[in-house]
Amino acid sequence: MKTVVPSAERPDGYLTSAKRVAGWLRPAWLEVDLASVAANVAHIARTVAPARVCAIVKADGYGHGAVRVAYAAVEGGASYLGVALAEEGHELRQAGLDVPVLILSEPPPEAMQMVVEDHLTATIYTVRGFSALLEAARAARPDGGGRAAAGPVPVHLKLDSGMHRVGADEGTFVELAAAVAGQPELFLEGAFTHLAVADEPGNAYTGEQLRRFEAALARLDGEGTKPRLLHAANSAGALCHPEARYAMVRPGIAMYGISPGPLVAGHAAVAALRPVLSLKAQVSLAKEVEAGERVSYGLRYELAQRSVVATVPLGYADGVPRRLYEAGGEVLVGGRRCPIAGTVTMDQIMVDCGPGAVVRAGDEVVLIGRQGDEEVTAWEWARRLGTIAYEVTCGLSPRLPRIYV
Ligand SMILES: Cc1ncc(COP(=O)(O)O)c(C=O)c1O
Repeated sequence: MKTVVPSAERPDGYLTSAKRVAGWLRPAWLEVDLASVAANVAHIARTVAPARVCAIVKADGYGHGAVRVAYAAVEGGASYLGVALAEEGHELRQAGLDVPVLILSEPPPEAMQMVVEDHLTATIYTVRGFSALLEAARAARPDGGGRAAAGPVPVHLKLDSGMHRVGADEGTFVELAAAVAGQPELFLEGAFTHLAVADEPGNAYTGEQLRRFEAALARLDGEGTKPRLLHAANSAGALCHPEARYAMVRPGIAMYGISPGPLVAGHAAVAALRPVLSLKAQVSLAKEVEAGERVSYGLRYELAQRSVVATVPLGYADGVPRRLYEAGGEVLVGGRRCPIAGTVTMDQIMVDCGPGAVVRAGDEVVLIGRQGDEEVTAWEWARRLGTIAYEVTCGLSPRLPRIYV
């Protein structure tokens, strides 16, 4: 498989993926620090060694750009990649990534041909999924009329140990293990489960889930089936629950330099993560507006005094939630926190820079990230909006150019 790092060099030294160069016409962008992604993965790998790292790059790398982030994660020491969809795995293969790629939930039957042809690792937890994968694996053999599969197709079985989202119950898990082991076209490479409350360090349910996982593994063992790659831990599990590490961990949010949750943010291994993402723009228009005037749709923001109002060219179509104004959202201009002034519109927001502020078109505005001594984090947005940082970064729309630094 070819190993290509897709990139286009801009004269100013920024790297950006070729297909997104057109986005440079917009003075609003996401900056993604790939060296920090690699450093975070290396930090996780050191923390969990000898367990290996499966870097989770689903949902376009949590909004950061899956391909570039995947290359950085591999550079940092990840030896597996994790995605939600076969299509996401396909994108990684098209970009030349040749490390193993795990699809974290069972793909629908129609996706199994892509799984086999792209040499992706399927998660299985139903008889329907098992049969569909087996059929695709058989069809891929030269005598099945397809392209030769490079050896048996790797399978990871998923146990529902108590989150009740996806996974097999213990009985089905044991039956599927025997079924996979009995087929020469398939190879039972791994078995795993997923933790529901790993970001709550004091919650005993993590221990209970691991106990159920081990009980199911003991039954496999009793029947002579021993998958090599056992895994259970997401970021919080990997960094804060050593007993959950097994042979591999599956960090997502941590490799993007974001704490999995407020209760683990102070944990030394979480605090050592480096921030990766900044959301920035340039002021498109700045003007003085009289005291008593009101700003944006609905005229909800009234200026108490004559102030400089800056217009910034990004809005809810870019993933700046419309309710961020009501929630007290602030941005950084000239190293100072300034309130969003009025309703967030589709393509633009207004910012109250205060009386006499020296702000001009072209000045940098930071919506997420650092400017001078001030910082706005994805978790600050999340707290204001009553959500989690995951939803904030995943919500940053593809319309924003991703700039890789
Ligand atoms: C099965 C599975 N493993 C790992 C992860 C990564 O989780 P986190 O981003 O909390 O590390 C996810 C994300 O939701 C997941 O669904």
